[in-house]
Amino acid sequence: MLTASPHCNITLPILNKVGRNLHHQEHHPLNIIKTIIEDHFSKTFRQPSTSASSTEDEPVFRYFDNMSPRVTTQQCFDDLLIQPDHVSRAVTDTYYFDETSLLRPHTSAHQTELMRAGHKAFLATGDCYRRDEIDYCHYPVFHQMEGVRLWPCSEVDDAYVIADLKSTLEGLVRRLFGDDIVFRWDEAAYFPFTEPSLELEIWSEERQDWLEVLGSGVIHTDILRNVDMADHRGWAFGLGLERWAMTLFDIPDIRLFWSEDPRFLTQFRPSSKKTEDGREFVRFAPFSKYPPCFKDISFWTPESYHANDFAAIVRDVAGDLVESVTLTDEFTHPKTQRLSVCYRITYRSMSASLVDDDVNALQEKVRQLAVDTLAVELR
Ligand code: PHE
Repeated sequence: MLTASPHCNITLPILNKVGRNLHHQEHHPLNIIKTIIEDHFSKTFRQPSTSASSTEDEPVFRYFDNMSPRVTTQQCFDDLLIQPDHVSRAVTDTYYFDETSLLRPHTSAHQTELMRAGHKAFLATGDCYRRDEIDYCHYPVFHQMEGVRLWPCSEVDDAYVIADLKSTLEGLVRRLFGDDIVFRWDEAAYFPFTEPSLELEIWSEERQDWLEVLGSGVIHTDILRNVDMADHRGWAFGLGLERWAMTLFDIPDIRLFWSEDPRFLTQFRPSSKKTEDGREFVRFAPFSKYPPCFKDISFWTPESYHANDFAAIVRDVAGDLVESVTLTDEFTHPKTQRLSVCYRITYRSMSASLVDDDVNALQEKVRQLAVDTLAVELR
């Protein structure tokens, strides 16, 4: 842990990701998606120039992609009406520097500061951090893009705002996933900061299932009042760049985004160059997959146990060598009511074959740390 604050739960491997800024890296898939989205907004939404010396029209939206990921609980939670007992505030879910400052778990943390600065239409992109499970699509660092658009109340009503939100985001999804994309709105979604809230889902042929691609809604009036914009109405959305990039480029594992292997990084190209078969997005060609190595661990848990704490240990010990941590068995002792869990840890390197001795050493460290820091009892 990093600071003297007893509240700090940020480890060095996580802190080392701060400043990597994958979304700035040229030809990186996250940068490509971000750039296409910004270009799409620049081309689609224009307004007469605000400067007296120019007669040309200019983009409606402003873009921010360099805001510090260190934010306050005020910006990240209180300003967004997130309840004091909401799980996203828990130390099991969020990385804290101290009691009031943290690594943003979503780019919504910038909504109120940008609105207070007078911005009425913007996209804000950045790296976000969450303590979470470990599998092919969850990594403690990921990237989001936030969008906000406001109008004076005198110009719009709620029906207008919702219709604009839907047409804007449907246009965006069509721009990236193609005109044939099948989508639907989930109107039962809930976010404390939007009312109503809506999630957009697209149909994935490959998975034969709906895939949620963004959260959105009409910005809660209390938020606008708190930023002195009570006379405005508007919408907000947030989307995860990794999920969009994994779907568009067929990238199978979220760890690949962090790879410095040229076999990964050289596969992507700017969208102005189409592939031979006319696709805008190249299909990622996996370089040979190295064999996995499975290790099981089971233990009795103390009352305070949280699965994210165990995942964090595995991540700290194994770094990007861990592919997934899957709960394979759970059992509550009928007499003592104690909970026993069993996990299967899949170790796999993306660039080399793992050596047995090395994996055994990792697993031994995981076992030791679980006992020492989580007070579990190995079985
Ligand atoms: N911040 C939300 C999330 O991380 C997404 C969102 C943004 C929802 C803006 C509504 C409005 O899931």
